[in-house]
Amino acid sequence: MTKRFYVTTPIYYINDVPHLGSAYTTIAADVMTRYRRLRGYDSLFVTGTDEHGLKIQRAAEARGLTPQALADDVSATFRDTWPQLSCEADDFIRTSSARHQRGAQEIWSRIAAAGDIYLGHYEGLYCVGCEAYFTEKELKQPGNLCPIHNTAVEAVKEESYFFRLSKYGDRLLAFYDAHPHFVQPEGRRNEVLSFVKGGLQDLSVSRTTFRWGVPVPGNDQHVMWVWIDALSNYWTALQEPADHAKYWPASVHIVGKDILRFHAVYWPAFLMAAGFADDQLPGQVLAHGFLTYGGQKMSKSLRNTVSPMALAQAVSPQVGVDTVRYCLMRSISFGYDGDFSIQDVLNRYATDLGNTLGNLLNRVHPFAPPALEAADYGPLEQELRSAMEKAAKSAAEAFDACSPTRALEAIWAGLSAANVYVDKAAPWTARKQDPGRVGTIVTTLAEVLEAASVMVAPVMPAVAAGMREQLGLEPLTAELDRDQWPLTMGCRPPGTGLKPGEPLFPRLDKARAAALLTEFASPAKADETPATADPPPSKPTVAFDDFAKLDLRVGVVVAAEKVKKKDRLLALQVDVGDAEPRHLVAGIAGSYQPEAIVGRRVVVLCNLEPRKFGKGLVSEGMLLAVNTADGVTLLAVDGEPPVGSAVS
Ligand code: MSP
Repeated sequence: MTKRFYVTTPIYYINDVPHLGSAYTTIAADVMTRYRRLRGYDSLFVTGTDEHGLKIQRAAEARGLTPQALADDVSATFRDTWPQLSCEADDFIRTSSARHQRGAQEIWSRIAAAGDIYLGHYEGLYCVGCEAYFTEKELKQPGNLCPIHNTAVEAVKEESYFFRLSKYGDRLLAFYDAHPHFVQPEGRRNEVLSFVKGGLQDLSVSRTTFRWGVPVPGNDQHVMWVWIDALSNYWTALQEPADHAKYWPASVHIVGKDILRFHAVYWPAFLMAAGFADDQLPGQVLAHGFLTYGGQKMSKSLRNTVSPMALAQAVSPQVGVDTVRYCLMRSISFGYDGDFSIQDVLNRYATDLGNTLGNLLNRVHPFAPPALEAADYGPLEQELRSAMEKAAKSAAEAFDACSPTRALEAIWAGLSAANVYVDKAAPWTARKQDPGRVGTIVTTLAEVLEAASVMVAPVMPAVAAGMREQLGLEPLTAELDRDQWPLTMGCRPPGTGLKPGEPLFPRLDKARAAALLTEFASPAKADETPATADPPPSKPTVAFDDFAKLDLRVGVVVAAEKVKKKDRLLALQVDVGDAEPRHLVAGIAGSYQPEAIVGRRVVVLCNLEPRKFGKGLVSEGMLLAVNTADGVTLLAVDGEPPVGSAVS
């Protein structure tokens, strides 16, 4: 039976424009889809826009437009952007469309019919910019200012429908238990478990204070507010056209860590209430970290966005898009935050793409006989062929687990082995000493490149097409039930000719590279005048042996929560390479939100005497951090050294 794969991105708010950060999610979904198609799956990739809310209503009023006209305009920008990044979604769902409204109302009605929606009153401090209520503690004082927008929040009391989320705690926990991969990565799963175990509150799901939303069935004084409307897009997109219904339930929802809770807790609970059986719930919620720029989340409100198209065009009109796709998938470990750096793009363009992949393709040409012979594999060839098969297997496992970073690492290990093979097989010497061998070497290399052209295709479709053209191969086309992944190396039919072409990754000259470095310089570095602090009083010199007594390690935060009644403290679980994560208590709550810190790499002093904080809280180590007048800054770790690595 044909295997199905249905992947989604979050639907994007239309108060922003597409940028490299939102492109990250969309590209990841596109990569997963292309991979599954090559494996013969019947795949559906859906993205779209989340268009309702007070913010949009007000923005439209300010511009003298109807909310619908504003939504049409911005939504079109999103829809038009993705193909420019080679993201080929099969459907684009808009929450203001009639098909979505019908579907969202259907979900609402099913939940209401089950008795899980009731009318009550909601009262709270509301920030229009965030479309969210805040508690006083979360606001900046004095003045009850929104911590994100720095503007005063409004006290709002309104009639609201509530969803009986509190009823679903046990069923959700049983579901997570039976589906251990429902939330990935693992650290995020722990975060979700502890949120649900902490007890669930009913959820306000409608508003009367604005009109720009999906009317609540049976009471058009109310519009749906945020989550029933937004999340049901994943289902409504499949109701019309009717032949999409077969893709339900979603295989993977790819989401940023900021909206994990909504997808991993609210969404399955809504579906349970609407009568979906456990085997009709989504397969997985995969949370990735943030793309940061100059150390801060890339977002319009922080004015630190990068246009992916401008970047791609500046790198190369031919392979710039593929380069951007490659760098995002390779450099930012899926699940973790990662800083965008133009230097990294230039390095990877020159080394991974130019020196390793491009060079391998160039190496096949000078020796190409007009038509290749069947190869007579010797030990070197066998070794390379099994290295490629291993790469294909590991890459497939990584793509199956939605880890493009690991998949690319595996593929590049294969490509490096191929470059080593050419050095050892030395076709330029063989040409003089053993001309018969040249055919074997070139054919072997062409076979390896053919396999590589399939493996890079999910991430770099244009590069794959260029490689295949030069290899004299047909373009890749996905076919249902045909697995094209090169788990076993094929043999090139004798007589297949090569068609040498231009280098795929021409060297960027120095002036071009310098211009790129300036144009895309990290915002923090562009206008940097480092602040200085008074150094601490000097301390006596220590012997290296004394320093070496400290067990300092790289750790990764796998769970974080606020400590009740201790404003300053966060209770953390940090994986430092031991069998179990360490429990740490850190005085960083004033500077870090728990959800923003999960997934970060930190430096931990592991052999500090445990310290008690009362109420059973013990800290089994200490995070290294800097205390400044503005708060606490954690020591950052460059790159992604393995968790548990010693810091020395
Ligand atoms: N509309 C909601 C989602 C509703 S889904 C039913 C929303 N929209 S958003 O536009 O604010 O964010 C959409 C996605 O883009 C989120 O997954 C968010 O994490 C992601 N990103 C936005 N900026 C990002 C980065 N700088 N880096 C990585 N992902 C980023 O939330």
